Amino acid sequence: MDLQLNGLWGQQSLFPAGTRSLRRVLLPCALESDFPAAAISRLAEHESWRKEVHRPATHTHKWWAQRLGTVFRAILTAAVTGDAKAAGTAYASRPDLEGLVVYDPFAGSGTTLVEAAKLRATIVGRDINPVATLVQRQALQPWNEERLRAAYRSVEQACRKQIDALHVSAAGDAVLYYFWVAVASCPRCDDQVDLFSSYVFARHAYPRRYPAAQATCPSCRCVVGVDLSTDDRIRCRKGHESPLDGPVRGQYMTCSCGHRTRVVDALAGSPPGYRMYAKLVVRPDGTKAYEAVDEFDTRLFEQAERLLAQGSGSLVQPVGNLDDGINTRQAIRWGYRRWEQFFNARQLYCLGLLGAAIRDLDAGAAEREALTTLFSGTLEFNNLFCSYKGEGTGAVRHMFSHHILKPERVPLEAHPWGTPYSSGAFSTLFESRLLRAHAYKNNPHDIVLEGDRPVRRFSLSYPLSGRVVQRWEDIGPGATAQVVCGDSASTDLPDESVDLVVTDPPFMDNVHYSELADFFHAWLTGIVPFAGYPDSAVSTRDPQEVQSASAEAFGAAIEAVWKECCRVLRPEGLLAFTFHQARIAGWTALMLALRNAGFQATAIQPIKAEMSTSVTKSGASEPSNLDSIIVCRKLGIGTPFAASPSDATGKALRHLDALRRAGIAFGAGDVASVVRGSVLSLLTSPDCQLHLRDLVEVSERTLAQMAPERDPSKDIRSHR
Ligand SMILES: C[S@@+](CC[C@H](N)C(=O)[O-])C[C@H]1O[C@@H](n2cnc3c(N)ncnc32)[C@H](O)[C@@H]1O
Ligand SMILES: [Zn+2]
Ligand SMILES: [Zn+2]
Repeated sequence: MDLQLNGLWGQQSLFPAGTRSLRRVLLPCALESDFPAAAISRLAEHESWRKEVHRPATHTHKWWAQRLGTVFRAILTAAVTGDAKAAGTAYASRPDLEGLVVYDPFAGSGTTLVEAAKLRATIVGRDINPVATLVQRQALQPWNEERLRAAYRSVEQACRKQIDALHVSAAGDAVLYYFWVAVASCPRCDDQVDLFSSYVFARHAYPRRYPAAQATCPSCRCVVGVDLSTDDRIRCRKGHESPLDGPVRGQYMTCSCGHRTRVVDALAGSPPGYRMYAKLVVRPDGTKAYEAVDEFDTRLFEQAERLLAQGSGSLVQPVGNLDDGINTRQAIRWGYRRWEQFFNARQLYCLGLLGAAIRDLDAGAAEREALTTLFSGTLEFNNLFCSYKGEGTGAVRHMFSHHILKPERVPLEAHPWGTPYSSGAFSTLFESRLLRAHAYKNNPHDIVLEGDRPVRRFSLSYPLSGRVVQRWEDIGPGATAQVVCGDSASTDLPDESVDLVVTDPPFMDNVHYSELADFFHAWLTGIVPFAGYPDSAVSTRDPQEVQSASAEAFGAAIEAVWKECCRVLRPEGLLAFTFHQARIAGWTALMLALRNAGFQATAIQPIKAEMSTSVTKSGASEPSNLDSIIVCRKLGIGTPFAASPSDATGKALRHLDALRRAGIAFGAGDVASVVRGSVLSLLTSPDCQLHLRDLVEVSERTLAQMAPERDPSKDIRSHR
């Protein structure tokens, strides 16, 4: 493995033109025989720090569980080469996969699709969620930069003035942020309680070095500077003194008479009220200042309320209700029932204007679609579930920093169009998301190792220039990308038409994509970003979505997709996907589904994954840092991954050891996932005589013997 780290990766200069054509999946291929997992993991780790900078094409909009492009480039290049050396060379040069058909049935934001298109493969992407389809289309679809900028300017013309006019102080300064606090009334005395846990509302990300902070005086509501290294009380200019702590502790609030109530009980099924208490303004000289809210601010907000009421017919507005689900439950408990309630009146009005300007845009279809996506992405930073991160860091903590919809007691209202000082605004994201993606699509870059150091290289990939079509029969010269929204259990792909299925399926009981995507969908239906986007359906939930905590339901849904993959895959083709699973039941369901669909596992390769958390059997969540790449062939083709359970555990532990020696940190949950996957892969082997029970016993015994190593705190270097 060390050889792979040092020797292999500097060699791309040996292939200056680097256009070797690799159009065949090899048997066995490098994924099965000898995969440079350690070197790839180093690169993947580097990418994981700033995914959006390294892979901007897939980051024009939020999607969940986005995978690392490095890993998928490595999977693709290892499928068409025979050993680690050839795979490494292909990865770090510019192989040409023209003519090879690569299919991703769970395409998400389009990571596989982009990596395959960058090597000129013909690509097919499907996802059951229309918001994912939208993100994929932006990743692939070419834009005309002049038209894109012109379209942006017409949107600006149509709405910016009105939006600016509602984000201004009495002195005429632009307001970057308004600070709000949720209010609940005490059920015993009706006292209105501001749900602050601390009256300090703005502090620096590194308070030890920068202890200056801002607090709001609970008596007169003025803004007071405090020094966190010395002050333990607030002392305002009018002489009021109060503690820094507010009336909320944990889930409880205490009213001024001392009644202690759970916040959700006080809310009694309706969302909290909100009170605006401070703002951050930018002065003409560019300095920023925190100020208390005054009469002018209150009247301005009332004006927004009136404008919203008058304009509701022509504005784009969010539609639909929150349906019960793992991710929506907490918001529903707080009383939120409709997506509209995630926004205050000024947000509804300004976002509604912006949405309408894009809806009515007379521009190229691709450019209008790009701005629609940008608009949708802006919503994430402009709603009442956002909060303030403070100074010294991107100011807005967006609503999806948690994987559930978590109500916010101290919401931050940002200027949705934005100023040069804003973060997460339409105008700033235009640069950082759309223009950056555009530059990347025209001149993509990749990460390679130079000696032991990850470096960025241009010209190892082809520009993304193909037209995107919705039907297989429309694939042809100049149109080498099919992107479809639909259940991948049935497709329009002919039998044996695909060389490679490369994907990242939902992990059992993990992110509930559609529950979260509905937040965006609620607005997108009013704009209809592309032909065929559902314009009436109120939810993106679908009974066929692979997503269940029950192993049976998960297994049945994923099996239907694998069956279809088996039908469309060429006999010599290959299925490779990433997977991670804390619960053994998830592995069992997955392997049985593969077997029933006609696949057998020929390799399991642990690899660096995007850091995430998974839920363990005990209900505790722990970080996971490794995925397994599961490599499969049609039954009867190739050699099973392992001959026996001990062979499987031996291979798993050797793979893990190689990663550890390369400096890749991982934890107990990662070890368990890889060992379980490796042993249970025997379920797909036609020669395996062992029962499920025996396999489970072997994997659990192996893990128990490794017990000292399974202390999660030991290995994990947390980086998120
Ligand atoms: C783990 S995500 C893929 C993430 C992707 N690798 C990325 O980097 O963005 C899995 C995707 O599968 C989709 N999905 C779930 N069930 C599906 C089905 N039956 N057919 C098609 N797509 C499905 C989900 O909507 C989700 O986007
Ligand atoms: Zn009370
Ligand atoms: Zn005061």
